[in-house]
Amino acid sequence: MTSNPYPLGLRLHGRRVVVVGGGAVATRRVPALLDAGADVLLVAPELTPALRARVDAGRLHWVSRRFVPEDLDGAWLVQVAVDDPMAAASVSAVAAERRIFCVRADDRTAATAWTPAVTRHGPVTVAVLGGGDPRRAMTVRDAIRDLLAVRLAPDGNAPTPSRADASTGTTAGPRAGRVALVGAGPGDPELITVKGWRLLTEADVVVADRLVPGLLLDELRPDVELVDASKIPYGPSRAQEEINQILVDRALAGAFVVRLKGGDPYVFGRGGEELLACAAAGVPVTVVPGVTSSIAAPAAAGIPVTHRGVAHEFTVVSGHLAPDAPASLVRWDALAGLHGTLVILMGLKNLAAITATLIAHGRSPQTPAAVVQEATTGTQRVLRSTLGEVAADLLAADLRPPAVVVVGDVVDALDS
Ligand SMILES: C[S@@+](CC[C@H](N)C(=O)[O-])C[C@H]1O[C@@H](n2cnc3c(N)ncnc32)[C@H](O)[C@@H]1O
Repeated sequence: MTSNPYPLGLRLHGRRVVVVGGGAVATRRVPALLDAGADVLLVAPELTPALRARVDAGRLHWVSRRFVPEDLDGAWLVQVAVDDPMAAASVSAVAAERRIFCVRADDRTAATAWTPAVTRHGPVTVAVLGGGDPRRAMTVRDAIRDLLAVRLAPDGNAPTPSRADASTGTTAGPRAGRVALVGAGPGDPELITVKGWRLLTEADVVVADRLVPGLLLDELRPDVELVDASKIPYGPSRAQEEINQILVDRALAGAFVVRLKGGDPYVFGRGGEELLACAAAGVPVTVVPGVTSSIAAPAAAGIPVTHRGVAHEFTVVSGHLAPDAPASLVRWDALAGLHGTLVILMGLKNLAAITATLIAHGRSPQTPAAVVQEATTGTQRVLRSTLGEVAADLLAADLRPPAVVVVGDVVDALDS
């Protein structure tokens, strides 16, 4: 007779879970056990490199041999992840004798517990069992995940009503606002993170920078208030104060505000100032890192910022001030002594002075250099040159911001 499984959420923190087998199945199962805080004992003569890395990092215990019954001493759960049905059956028999639930990768019908397909949204975990059919479980799980991606707030709570709802009087009262500082990536709208995209779809207010991919904004709900931060008047510092104020005011009024910034919010993005302003006003902030142009722009031009045997370091530096500007915080003379990769953001205007300074302090004028404009977009342009000539070549080619300058032997590393 078959009967329905009884769903449970196992609280495994600090509790011994034994995993028998060190192959692909164990590699997939172990991370969720570790995520649950389980005290994992892995029993297997050999491990995949991924599992070995976790052992080396001290995340789990490994005994390098075949299973013996004493391995289940003190265990609350056992996962059998071996191909050999005889070996799996013998582990299963010992577990049954000791009344320990046993998940079996080789034979679901012989198992005393099944692992569900899972989707997690903040503190909410949805687990789906497909009546013994893992594909059915995954299909249902995927549908629920897509649904929840637009329905649940980042903290896993049901979303607070939108401004449109509030104006039509359907709100249940005041609510706590918050801010998310989200990195939008370098330009290609697909380079935002999954989390960043999810928060964007949930925003009441989006405060966007000039460099964020326009297509992301195209897809906002019609009732979302879009504030174009690049149109805020005054000089750079007053404009920043204005932006901080908008974030705080909207959040204190109960809105979920997404501050969408090009690349990563903390790489020359002034994200820190915005975080501090929100913190000072008691507004909670989530920071979602982004794909920074300092790495993505070289990559999009076929330039790895590090390459085995070529560069063991890369340095990201702002070139918005000339090397001799009193306010400059950059030690260009010291940078000239490095052998690795130098990535310069906001450096086109001062490039002639920057390259001259680097050469004057010892970096070879023959060092390969490249400029990548509007990286990862349909209008990307790439200029390859040398440190000695790149400033002149840039003018001749009429390249413009936003652009990243890369200096170092990595520029040619992938040329065959
Ligand atoms: C104010 S900084 C912001 C950097 C951003 N937070 C990041 O992590 O990429 C702006 C500079 O980033 C660089 N940049 C941003 N997007 C770029 C792109 N798509 N292509 C080339 N450079 C880009 C340019 O140097 C630009 O002047």
